[in-house]
Amino acid sequence: MRFDFETMLASERYGLLLATVLPRPIAWVTTCDRDGLVNAAPFSFFNVFGSDPATVGVGIGSKGPAEPKDTRANIRETEQFVVNLVPFSLAQEMRVTSIAFPRGVEEPAEAGLSLAASERVAVPRIAQAPVSMECSFMQEIALGSFGLVLGKIVMVHVSDEAVIDAGRQHVDASKLDLIGRMEGAWYTKTRDRFEMPPIALNDWNDARSARHIAAEST
Ligand SMILES: Cc1cc2nc3c(=O)[nH]c(=O)nc-3n(C[C@H](O)[C@H](O)[C@H](O)COP(=O)(O)O)c2cc1C
Repeated sequence: MRFDFETMLASERYGLLLATVLPRPIAWVTTCDRDGLVNAAPFSFFNVFGSDPATVGVGIGSKGPAEPKDTRANIRETEQFVVNLVPFSLAQEMRVTSIAFPRGVEEPAEAGLSLAASERVAVPRIAQAPVSMECSFMQEIALGSFGLVLGKIVMVHVSDEAVIDAGRQHVDASKLDLIGRMEGAWYTKTRDRFEMPPIALNDWNDARSARHIAAEST
């Protein structure tokens, strides 16, 4: 089946992207408005894009024409945000924070979440989150009704129990127990995994030579 993105409606393209780009990590973004009210919302148009500068990108839509979602409006106002990551144990709380509350409603309180002060930004992080990344705003790239917000990560918090070796940046992913977004209302857990080390070019070439020699001698 082919899907011609040149002739499809934007809503149809959106549907197919959400149904096929799987799983997607979830940025659980906390922001503050001008009055210091704390907003939280999940976004799965999210990833990291570099480490020097350490860069996160979040695709944030609009509530209506020329009315960005509260998260995007807050980031424009304060130029700071925190990306918290979502463990399975907080899935329901994350879901509550995705409700389309009016601007000014504090989703962390609605969801019964505790907040902890950040160190480099004024926006608090979600205390129960196993990973929180404090970010300063870099730029916003307009993508129709969406905005791709890029931020520089200036501080990362990882729950102590998940850190295996801080000096070598080894973290026990099973302790983070993060969830990802699947299609529709489905989510996935991240504990079902397999190991596959990369193949060095020399090893690949040696193995290929060995296969040739074996083929020629038969
Ligand atoms: C798991 C999940 C992922 C989501 N991803 C996005 C996304 O990438 N971009 C977006 O604009 N909205 C996304 N949403 C919807 C927002 O979370 C929702 O519109 C929220 O109310 C926005 O809150 P705000 O207006 O306080 O920023 C997602 C919702 C869920 C539950």
